[in-house]
Amino acid sequence: MNSAPKFDQFIPEDLTKLAYQTFQEGKKIFGVAHKTLSDRLTNLILADRQEGIQPLSQETLLKLQNGMKKLAETEWQDSQDGIYPSETLFDNPWGDFFRYYPEVWLDLPKIWNRVGAKQYQEFDTDIDRQGYPSYYLQNFHYQTDGYLSDLSANLYDLQVEILFNGSADAMRRRILKPLKDKLAKTDTSSQDARILDVACGTGRTLRMIRSALSKAKLFGVDLSPAYLRKANQLLSEIPGELPQLLQANGEHLPYQDNYFSAVTSVFLFHELPPQARQNVIEECFRVLQPEGTLIICDSMQKGDSPDFEVMMDNFPVLFHEPYYRHYATDNLETRLEKAGFTTIEIENHFVSKYWIATKPAI
Ligand SMILES: C[S@@+](CC[C@H](N)C(=O)[O-])C[C@H]1O[C@@H](n2cnc3c(N)ncnc32)[C@H](O)[C@@H]1O
Repeated sequence: MNSAPKFDQFIPEDLTKLAYQTFQEGKKIFGVAHKTLSDRLTNLILADRQEGIQPLSQETLLKLQNGMKKLAETEWQDSQDGIYPSETLFDNPWGDFFRYYPEVWLDLPKIWNRVGAKQYQEFDTDIDRQGYPSYYLQNFHYQTDGYLSDLSANLYDLQVEILFNGSADAMRRRILKPLKDKLAKTDTSSQDARILDVACGTGRTLRMIRSALSKAKLFGVDLSPAYLRKANQLLSEIPGELPQLLQANGEHLPYQDNYFSAVTSVFLFHELPPQARQNVIEECFRVLQPEGTLIICDSMQKGDSPDFEVMMDNFPVLFHEPYYRHYATDNLETRLEKAGFTTIEIENHFVSKYWIATKPAI
């Protein structure tokens, strides 16, 4: 057994908290600085880009700042309550961030061309587009090659952290408390738990689940081979059994009925058209054991916070998100009930929303 000393055994709690706050603040400053500069450049090149964009009021900006602070407090508290070790709060793909940051800038002219030409289904000729649903073949966020290249997979985590001013991981981690609570309620021990992450992307959520449930059997599916390759690389860096990753559509999960103790899905639903959202929910219901729980994390929706509605209107204009407008008013609770889920709890953290839905016992 490896008895390596734990990070926080030697560091007083207050110091760890201060380090965490500084770390978050650093990521925020970096995100804001990057966006300010790249937005200025983009507005110079694409003069009509601001059309349809509403400016954020000082009050909204202040509320955003407060929301971020509150999220960080919750993050810290969950680590103190033993949901995950405090070193999880500092987990960041630094190597990739430094290595690929210049690529983010180098990719910008390609994005300008795409936006200028309103060309949002543009893929390199050597990318195989066979077998994917048509709704998926998009340059989501205007990104080069959509989800279908190694370049896109290498830039993704960095781009999402910039987008959320360093809070993307903190929002993903909010699935861990309900996940652990629900498993505890069904007396599922960590090593018996089978957890599937649908649309696992580069594996950030699986990595977090591994840190909170070191013995659980983890599974991930995604449609993108490139993102699965990246997930495999990042997940093999951490201790514990390697999650089983499969290329699959969340609408047709390649697993038997009643197999998983829990299913999670982070930042997928706003990128699906309405019927696909329903299909994914129904598949999650099918593969869950009775009393198993589905946890969906995605963007907040209209009605969750009137203060942020302007941001929700701007988002699909600033980033290519063809299904976001419908998502923002879609009633996922009704969809979950239609699939058969009974107990549905809802949480909001910063600009994200969480549906925690349980399949009834037999
Ligand atoms: C916004 S990313 C979210 C990735 C990851 N869950 C995260 O937290 O960053 C959306 C992901 O969903 C995947 N995806 C989109 N539609 C899918 C579908 N129908 N089935 C499986 N994966 C899908 C994409 O390939 C991409 O990796």
